[in-house]
Formats: sequence, C-alpha cells, structure tokens
Amino acid sequence: AKAAAKPGPGRAPVVVAHRGASAYAPENTLAAVDAAHDLGFAWVENDVQRTRDGELVVLHDESLARTTDVEEVFPDRAPWRVADFTAAEVARLDAGSWFGEEFAGERIPTLEQYLRRVEANGQRLLLELKKPTLYPGVESQTLKELANEGWLDRQHVARRLVIQSFEAGTVRTVHELAPEVTTGFLGTPAAADLPGYAAFTDQINPNHSTVTADYVSEVQALEGAHGRPLEVFTWTVDDAATARRVAEAGVDGIISNAPDVVRDAVGR
Ligand code: G3P
Ligand code: CA
Repeated sequence: AKAAAKPGPGRAPVVVAHRGASAYAPENTLAAVDAAHDLGFAWVENDVQRTRDGELVVLHDESLARTTDVEEVFPDRAPWRVADFTAAEVARLDAGSWFGEEFAGERIPTLEQYLRRVEANGQRLLLELKKPTLYPGVESQTLKELANEGWLDRQHVARRLVIQSFEAGTVRTVHELAPEVTTGFLGTPAAADLPGYAAFTDQINPNHSTVTADYVSEVQALEGAHGRPLEVFTWTVDDAATARRVAEAGVDGIISNAPDVVRDAVGR
C-alpha cells in the first residue's frame, strides 16, 4: 500500500555504529559497543552466527581467522569456520589484538553477553542474521534468546530493536514468527519488486553505491510491514562526502564504522 505520510524534508538520518564503532575498537566486540556509547551513539549494528554446539555468537566472517588468533591457538583447524568450533573454544580466542594491543584479551561475545552490554548502556540494536542458510533454525533461536533477555517486550520492540538479513526468506521468517518485531532487508530490490518485500519488512537497506534520490523516494512511498513508511538505512558510509550524498538522497539511516564522521557531516 502507499504510505500515508513521508518523513519530513531535511530530517537528518539516524547514524548506526557498524559492528559497533569499529573504526575505533575491534568490530563486533563489547569494546566496540562501548566505543559507540562513549561517542554518544544509541544504535549499534552486529552480525550473529552459531558455533558447532549451538551457541549464538557475534562475528562477521564465517571464519575466525581475520579477527582472532585462532590460527595460532588451533593451527590444524583451517579454514577456521566458527561453525566448526565449540563455544568453549571460541571463548579462548583473542578478538582484540589484531586491531590493537590495547584491546588484547577482548573476546568474541556470545549474543547473550552482547545483548546484556547493549542493555546496560541503554543502547539500541540493529541485529544482522549473517549467513542464516548455514544455521538452520537461527531465526527462532535468536528470537527465543531475545525474548529470554527481555528484548521482545513492548519498549524494546517499539524503539530499540531491528532484525535484518541479506536473505529475504530469513526476514520473512522473522516477521512470521514475531510479527511485532521491526525488520530490514539488506539489498536493493528492483522497484517493481518492492511491494512484495514491504509485506514482511520495514526497511530496505542498500549498499550506498546503489542509493539514488529516486530509489529512496520509491521505497519511502510504500507502507512497510507495520504500516509505517518503508525506511532506507544504507551502509557502509565512512566519509563525509558520501554521507552528505546519501543524506541528500533522503535516507532514514546511515550505518558507519566511523559514526562520528557521519554525524559531523550530516548532523544527528
Ligand atoms: O548493516 C549492513 C552491513 O553490515 C552489511 O554488510 O558485510 O558489513 O555485514 P556486512
Ligand atoms: Ca553486518
């Protein structure tokens, strides 16, 4: 359906700290959550995957190699996929030293630990289900964990939680299992396909290189799954010129490793 109202002209986009404030602290760690908080950012984005024994953990790559010392700790376990390690093994890894010695000993958080830190900081979460086809049932498992931690109560659902994925089927499943939760689809569907997406998502979240004012207007002219104008949160914008360009195109949100740079450029 067509949306009743569009966002007001000139409204500054919301800025989301991507993988936490990951230009300043190791991505997807509690230190990156705190860095975003210290800079004054409410919204953090993260990536959720699963260990061999079924623990949800916060990690971007399928492999542990880039962001931990796994190659030293477990030299015989190439290609070091998180899905091949137990939660206890993952908990032994140093997820901070690769970024800077001052972060030595930082761990890969479980989703539970991550939710508790975001909650303690009074922050908000844009949770990405990363590679969900590798983890059957990850949608219901994540929702169960969110519920256990109090993240599906009215206040969180109304203002503090969005679940997004590159997999449309996963976004649809989240919407079906928990219709109250705000959802986002990562990608740039063709304009003709947008009404189909709007049935199960509240946000269309494209790479910044695909953002044009016309596309943003086409998205925002539709009603999303909750009857509000469909929103656009774009990623990953780390420089002032790109931030200004996508803000002028009318996006509702900008996801950034360096959220302070974006805030300075487009002002919120
Ligand atoms: O939040 C959007 C963005 O995180 C998607 O890309 O690869 O950084 O997870 P990626
Ligand atoms: Ca992500």
